[in-house]
Amino acid sequence: MASKVASILIPILLSALLLHTTQAHNITAILDGFPDYALYNSYLSKTKVCDEINAHETVTCLVLSDAAMSSLVTAAKQSLAGIKNALRLLSLLDYFDPPKLHDLPSGTTLTTTLYQTTGNAAGNLGFVNITNLRGGKVGFAAAAPGSKFDASYVKSVREMPFNLSIIEISDAVIFPGLFDATASTANITALLEKAGCKTFASLIASSGVLKIYQTQMDKGLTLFAPNDDAFQAPGAPDLSSLSSADLVTLLQYHALPQYTPKSSLSAESGPIQTLASSAAGKYEISVAGNGDDVSLDTGVGKSRVASTVLDDTPNTIMTVDSLLLPVELFGGAPTPAPAPGPAALVPVPAPAALAPAPATKKHRLHHSPPAPPMEAPAEAPAKTAADKADVKAAAAVAGPMGLLAAISSSLVFVNLLM
Ligand SMILES: *[C@@H]1O[C@H](CO)[C@@H](O)[C@H](O)[C@H]1NC(C)=O
Ligand SMILES: *[C@@H]1O[C@H](CO)[C@@H](O)[C@H](O)[C@H]1NC(C)=O
Ligand SMILES: *[C@@H]1O[C@H](CO)[C@@H](O)[C@H](O)[C@H]1NC(C)=O
Ligand SMILES: *[C@@H]1O[C@H](CO)[C@@H](O)[C@H](O)[C@H]1NC(C)=O
Repeated sequence: MASKVASILIPILLSALLLHTTQAHNITAILDGFPDYALYNSYLSKTKVCDEINAHETVTCLVLSDAAMSSLVTAAKQSLAGIKNALRLLSLLDYFDPPKLHDLPSGTTLTTTLYQTTGNAAGNLGFVNITNLRGGKVGFAAAAPGSKFDASYVKSVREMPFNLSIIEISDAVIFPGLFDATASTANITALLEKAGCKTFASLIASSGVLKIYQTQMDKGLTLFAPNDDAFQAPGAPDLSSLSSADLVTLLQYHALPQYTPKSSLSAESGPIQTLASSAAGKYEISVAGNGDDVSLDTGVGKSRVASTVLDDTPNTIMTVDSLLLPVELFGGAPTPAPAPGPAALVPVPAPAALAPAPATKKHRLHHSPPAPPMEAPAEAPAKTAADKADVKAAAAVAGPMGLLAAISSSLVFVNLLM
């Protein structure tokens, strides 16, 4: 019944597709016509498994209702890498329509999947066992011996013989280890060092921001790593003049809390939030795309995206030609130097310290000294106990930051007196 309704509704969409694309199929566009599978479809896009499906001429997609998909997401503990594995296991590299499914030779068959072809699968773990069960039921299970047939055929959603078949099944096909076998093992610092981003690698390690990146890796992380030349370029800021809180914010600004590989960057419309975005400031980046040429615009300056170092859903790392300088820290008109000497020697009067001081918060850009900037933050005199105490709180609230800087300056001043 339902499949008959579907077959009446779909040809319109389909003929439009066939007329306007040279691609065999676009699974995302086809599933857009079926709101029942909206959650499944959204994860096909987030994990980019849709591109793998589209690249195969012969595929059977086992799709899940929103309820079954929610259970899958929960079982995977929201891990995109785990969900990606599950979606690949539901993508059979053979054409199965209802008659074929209900009348398997000898009542059972093993079929390969996208998961098997990725090379992640040990042995035949990436195969799916389809078996004709009693009462005309068709069961789906992982190929591992003893797997239960928890998933069964519900209905045919779409048939495009003999290229693409879309079948709804009741549940995901799962085996022990499907989700946790692939927690990202990418070693960010090692990858960055190899890609000519040693300064950046050392900065994220010494500042502790590496841990923030790693925590984000299960949910999706896009990292823009400036190469070593970027730190020496004329106009690069003197990082040793940043407080450790500002340095943390600057490094967080170089990452997005989502998976956006280079090919998807130019499709972004409008400013994108970064890991630094918070109530304290927008800290956004705009993308200016021109074919393969993608640039990031911070509002202070532009930086070209050079090469992709890692593209492993849900994580991607790209190198950029310049440091990304947020307006919140480096923007606006060049600020007049308030005091020529080290700030620590000038005691700040109490009322001024409490007043919001956005102008003095901005850092001036100047030619960076040839000394390796990565060592500077650790030796900077501003790194007092008070400064160290709550780097995160300082990064989260703009107002108290001026205050914090004032406190640390005063502390240094007191120290000097004693
Ligand atoms: C279906 O797949 C065959 C190859 O198996 C290919 O030649 C044909 O173009 C495909 N048809 C459609 C409509 O994509
Ligand atoms: C597939 O269709 C979606 C719309 O559902 C569209 O956003 C996407 O660009 C299409 N992909 C290709 C490769 O044409
Ligand atoms: C599928 O699983 C069932 C139950 O474990 C098993 O009897 C059958 O041989 C399997 N099918 C194939 C083709 O391996
Ligand atoms: C990652 O690589 C760095 C070298 O860049 C190494 O020092 C570190 O031990 C590695 N971490 C892990 C967990 O392997």
